[in-house]
Amino acid sequence: MLQLAEQLRTQGLDELSKVQSADALEAWRLAYLAGSGKLKAAMAGFKDVPKEQKPAVGAKMNEVKAALEQAFEEKKAAVSQLAASNAPQLDVTEPGLVSSSCVGRPHIITRVIEELCDVFGRMGFEVAEGPELEDDEHNFIKLNIPAGHPARDPVDNFYVDDPRKTERPRMIRSQTSTVQVRVMEAAVREGGGRLRKPIKIISPGRVFRPDTVDATHSFMFHQIEGLYLDHGVSMVDLKTTLLQFARAYFGEDAEVRLRPSYFPFTEPSAELDMKIRLRPDQPARWIELGGCGMVDPAVLQHCGIDPEEWTGFAFGFGIERIAMGRYSIPDIRLLFENDLRFLRQV
Ligand code: DAH
Repeated sequence: MLQLAEQLRTQGLDELSKVQSADALEAWRLAYLAGSGKLKAAMAGFKDVPKEQKPAVGAKMNEVKAALEQAFEEKKAAVSQLAASNAPQLDVTEPGLVSSSCVGRPHIITRVIEELCDVFGRMGFEVAEGPELEDDEHNFIKLNIPAGHPARDPVDNFYVDDPRKTERPRMIRSQTSTVQVRVMEAAVREGGGRLRKPIKIISPGRVFRPDTVDATHSFMFHQIEGLYLDHGVSMVDLKTTLLQFARAYFGEDAEVRLRPSYFPFTEPSAELDMKIRLRPDQPARWIELGGCGMVDPAVLQHCGIDPEEWTGFAFGFGIERIAMGRYSIPDIRLLFENDLRFLRQV
């Protein structure tokens, strides 16, 4: 047994001296030190050693075990140092490579909003903002949509308060026309009870309707609202402004048309259509961008503005529709799915 222990020590140390890598070191550890290793196997014979020799044999086995373990630890340190010195040398001062695929960019809707603000800004429109959480006074009543009007149906709106139980139910706005009302009210307040100067604003923002999602509809989308109030503003100004906008944004050959329509807050009212090719393999077709018209005198009165003194036009267009036309995007869902393969293209 004593001889066997010595043999183990010599053989183990000899093999260990040849180890050069972490893998080889682990193999050596398994062969000698692990539960299934040679050291453990040799210890199995200990029970047959005559009693009087047990102390000497035990001491020897412990000595060999300690020697192998110590040699193992030393080798381990040497091997890891070797691995470190073999690692590729890094120059940490070298400038990194910029990966273009990882650089973020504004979402296409954000970009279109910026472009629209820029185009209308050049025509003298300032940007106004209004809250998404609204009440029925701004979303409906002051826009000439009184109680009982079908547009107020809970099926078509996201009410926050129950409209049957609350007098002024809150809702998330279904249209950006709410901002018209807020801007007019604020201007009258500022003027000490009357409008003292023209208003010329646009207001881009999110609107919400419980629509079923398909290629051209979504329960959340963006609109851009416009309002121009001044002395003697007419339908001609509206038409000119919209044509100018279409040419500036979509190009000189943009084809647009105004179609008579109805909105409670404008009189007369129209819809703006534009000829758009959504897919390269399909002919261009008329797509409705949104509504417009001359602000109804009743709306002005609701906001404390004298319709004898001020007239104006308003419009409200769908930004997704504009984006789809401008960048030939055939399906509105592409704008919200956040598929990087799409977002990187536009
Ligand atoms: N708010 C209307 C809608 O969501 C769009 C609209 C029509 C806005 C006529 C206007 C307007 O400002 O004058 O369908």
